[in-house]
Amino acid sequence: MLVRLKIFRFDPEKDKEPYYQIFEVEADPMDRLLDCLNRIRWEQDPTLSFRMSCGHGVCGSDGMRINGICGLACQKLVRNFKEEVLIEPLPVFRVVKDLVVDLGPFFEKYHSIKPYLITQTPPSDTERKQSPEEYERFEEAIRCILCACCTASCPVNQNKETENYVGPAALVRAFRYLFDSRDEAIEERIALLDHKEGAWGCQTQWKCTEVCPKEIPVTKQIGQIKKRIYETKNRGSSGN
Ligand code: SF4
Ligand code: FES
Repeated sequence: MLVRLKIFRFDPEKDKEPYYQIFEVEADPMDRLLDCLNRIRWEQDPTLSFRMSCGHGVCGSDGMRINGICGLACQKLVRNFKEEVLIEPLPVFRVVKDLVVDLGPFFEKYHSIKPYLITQTPPSDTERKQSPEEYERFEEAIRCILCACCTASCPVNQNKETENYVGPAALVRAFRYLFDSRDEAIEERIALLDHKEGAWGCQTQWKCTEVCPKEIPVTKQIGQIKKRIYETKNRGSSGN
């Protein structure tokens, strides 16, 4: 089948304004959009820039906006697109070139929530153990591949006035540690999240959950963070 792609182009070193370029590629219906992009780069225009690595929904590097919805090009079969496919970079982030965006601010926010286990007690001779039930509490969150599709789709992050909101991807990772039975920094984590640019920045608009390629219940997890903040702060009065 012939696939027609309308691709966002912008090279800040030579273009005054972004523009769109049409490419046509012969593809098998079971090919992915990423295969088409690779074919364009190999056979038609080696200057076309985009990120990719694993090709199988694992590395999270080929997040882009496809017909207006953020997703991974390696997970989109061409047979599911009937008309011309519009390919654009992830919104929210500065365009470096074509489909490549600057994810520096995304990872700054991610690091701000301390994405690692914090402990005070010395480790045992073997390992810090937890039960299967304790692991299941945060198992869905560890599927996150940091593709940034959720943060790029979030209306709060898209709004200039609230762009400092830490964003759904960072909150998924915060959830992962807040609900890990081995972590011993709940007060510190609550302090990092308990403000309007933290968990309370979420307006429950569900866009993050709709686009997450790993089907993580992002909005629900942010809701559980808010509940945990509330319960922790009211522990004294509630007696929990
Ligand atoms: Fe991507 Fe989902 Fe992780 Fe967001 S939560 S960064 S959409 S994998
Ligand atoms: Fe790795 Fe798509 S190329 S997730």
